[in-house]
Amino acid sequence: MADYIIAIDQGTTSSRAIIFDKKGSIVATGQKEHEQILPKAGWVEHDAAEIWRNVQEVIGLALGRADLTRHDIAAVGITNQRETAVVWDRKTGKPVYNAIVWQDTRTQAIVDRLAADGGVERFKPIVGLPLATYFSGTKIAWILENVDGAREKAEAGDLIFGTTDSWVLWNLTGGVDGGVHVTDVTNASRTMFMDLETLEWRDDILEAFGVPRSMMPEIRSSSEVYGTAESSSLLRETPIAGILGDQQAATFGQAAFQKGESKNTYGTGCFLIFNTGEEVVHSKNGLLTTVGYKLGDQPTHYALEGSIAVTGSLIQWLRDQLGIISSAPEVEKLAEQVEDNGGVYIVPAFSGLFAPYWRSDARGAIVGLTRYANKNHIARAALEAVAFQTRDVLDAVNADAGVDLTELKVDGGMVANDALMQFQADVLGVPVVRPVVAETTALGAAYAAGLAVGFWNGLDDLSANWQEDKRWEPSMDDAERDRQLRLWRKAVTKSMDWVD
Ligand code: G3P
Repeated sequence: MADYIIAIDQGTTSSRAIIFDKKGSIVATGQKEHEQILPKAGWVEHDAAEIWRNVQEVIGLALGRADLTRHDIAAVGITNQRETAVVWDRKTGKPVYNAIVWQDTRTQAIVDRLAADGGVERFKPIVGLPLATYFSGTKIAWILENVDGAREKAEAGDLIFGTTDSWVLWNLTGGVDGGVHVTDVTNASRTMFMDLETLEWRDDILEAFGVPRSMMPEIRSSSEVYGTAESSSLLRETPIAGILGDQQAATFGQAAFQKGESKNTYGTGCFLIFNTGEEVVHSKNGLLTTVGYKLGDQPTHYALEGSIAVTGSLIQWLRDQLGIISSAPEVEKLAEQVEDNGGVYIVPAFSGLFAPYWRSDARGAIVGLTRYANKNHIARAALEAVAFQTRDVLDAVNADAGVDLTELKVDGGMVANDALMQFQADVLGVPVVRPVVAETTALGAAYAAGLAVGFWNGLDDLSANWQEDKRWEPSMDDAERDRQLRLWRKAVTKSMDWVD
């Protein structure tokens, strides 16, 4: 058997290919950013063709850097930004519209229309999700309602839908020449259309959204061979054997396989996932119910999820829209210049507020400004907003679970920021723990693929790979924590009820 697994991580801001060895260590990485297309306030799009070109390029970069060929690769795993909707023509292979990204809020009118009959929780008992612009369903409906000729073509069976896992898999397995149109249970659980118990598409919900069933990919497990890479690919004949939505992949990469285990990933947004084992648990506190993973024909593992739309992308906003930093890591340097936030709080409700509030009428707010406040305070408040939002989600997890989490496993790009992680432990009041391999998203996809082809023998092999790198203990006193949380929550209320 070949010695490596390659994971393709098709994320919100970039696509990456990462090669792992049997210990779960990174051997080489290729990465390329794609354009964020922002045509109007609240709209976020990606060019799916650009994403596919980048995926091919980063595979070449990673193989080249490791000096490996396809013969060294035992299997390919795919992980992806979830919910982002691509609709394309199966005969030409061309998308009929840009991918509508998970952060995009243009479909609020469709949400309102559907919620008029039964409220936003109308489908939640079946699919685990409230009606919200976040999930794929209303994005597909918008394309069918707004792109010329799309509905007719869809009804004729020519258009197909996929999140970016399906888009990459379809292209990698041949595209118009026999591409495999498949998604996995974790991605399917983010569409609004999959029944969490049966793991099948619901015809009644598809009908309510006006989406033909023929557009939908086949739902498969997260770990099995879906197909092999086509002949012109650098990975030709290599099995593609794992798919997990990126947050579920990070949970898997953190070896949080058992009921009661959890992780928080700090990327464009933050996503805290709490494994509920083989049981579908419905939240009473604003969390989503989602599929955690399913390995081949073994039982499905479910999870509760606290999704936060804007964390890392707030730092990008400081860089790209405000221009107060020229690179993301600079935010830490500015924040370090000041002792505290100077009374400034930022609520980054750019896409409304997700968990645990689910307020689409919220918009971003910076409050507590005085003439004393400067860019250092703004930078500090931006980092603090990441930690405060995570605290709100953790409170919801604790309330749903009925027991308090005693520590939080973290991963993702922002966990390199020491000051942020210390502040996170301070506002949570529990230790925060980072593993040696913080690229758990790609690692999780590699694990799913490697298990399917026998590269790893079972979950014990994977657990043995997990190693603690660093732990931050809380050091803030209780009165100060309470004061800051009180001000944060006041700031959150100021962001609400903003949209006319
Ligand atoms: O639900 C959206 C999430 O999957 C996006 O993750 O890491 O690409 O920001 P990320």
